[in-house]
Amino acid sequence: MKKIALITGSNKGIGLETARQLATAGMTVLLGSRDPGRGEAAAAALRAEGLDATAIALDVADDASITAAAATVGEKFDHLDVLVNNAGIYAAGPASGTTRETLRVLFETNVFGVVSVTNAFLPLLRKAEAGRIVNVSSEVASLGVVTDPTTYMSGMQDLAYQASKGAVNWVTIMFAKELTDTPIKVNAAIPGYVSTDLNGNAGYITAAHGAEASVALATLPADGPTGTFWGTLTSTDTPEKAVAPW
Ligand SMILES: NC(=O)c1ccc[n+]([C@@H]2O[C@H](COP(=O)([O-])OP(=O)(O)OC[C@H]3O[C@@H](n4cnc5c(N)ncnc54)[C@H](OP(=O)(O)O)[C@@H]3O)[C@@H](O)[C@H]2O)c1
Repeated sequence: MKKIALITGSNKGIGLETARQLATAGMTVLLGSRDPGRGEAAAAALRAEGLDATAIALDVADDASITAAAATVGEKFDHLDVLVNNAGIYAAGPASGTTRETLRVLFETNVFGVVSVTNAFLPLLRKAEAGRIVNVSSEVASLGVVTDPTTYMSGMQDLAYQASKGAVNWVTIMFAKELTDTPIKVNAAIPGYVSTDLNGNAGYITAAHGAEASVALATLPADGPTGTFWGTLTSTDTPEKAVAPW
């Protein structure tokens, strides 16, 4: 039977590429998008490639939208195999320039959204044979990476974004612990520094390469890890992937 995957924020960027790769691997993909028009355009583009893709209206910063999306998916399918919490926003700014409002906005989408979406879809994930949850994090959330001056990302100083992704790591660990006696695996993905709208297309690697970590964690075998932080830690275009320090 075809597996069913929901990818949040997948109307463009790494999320769209994640959807494309999971669909190419044979899954039915549900493209979460806060703008139904953008979501439908992305799903239509994947369908034109012969892939099984459907757009789902899903604003991860809005609980009513999350509840409605979970109900829509639950009416159509009796389970969900894969949830990729990919939707995310960025704000530049060092510690001294960071306001309460910036923190609030970033955490609403990047952190509270991940917890709310995961909890809304957990009943369907529990009904899957081997549910997989992937939370898209970043190497700039790693205390080990950022405090090591030899890493290519150690100079980054964007407090709200980095702290929000650090919190995503906490969310990952806590869900992995709670679900440890279930078949569900929960891991944090590191796409690498990817050229997308999020960074004004300044990244070094393509969205297709950036999606690889999410796809690998979404398709882990039964003996794969849970509660890990894994992906691209180098700036090269053919990235080797590795476990990152928290
Ligand atoms: N690019 C990188 O170098 C990099 C590195 C590490 C981690 N990441 C992470 O990778 C993920 C994808 O980012 P990207 O680089 O592909 O950026 P992107 O091209 O800007 O895509 C972000 C996606 O998230 C969606 N989104 C934002 N807020 C949302 C909300 N409230 N509800 C639903 N969807 C929402 C956007 O929708 P709209 O089109 O409606 O805005 C878009 O589809 C993010 O979590 C990001 O933090 C990126």
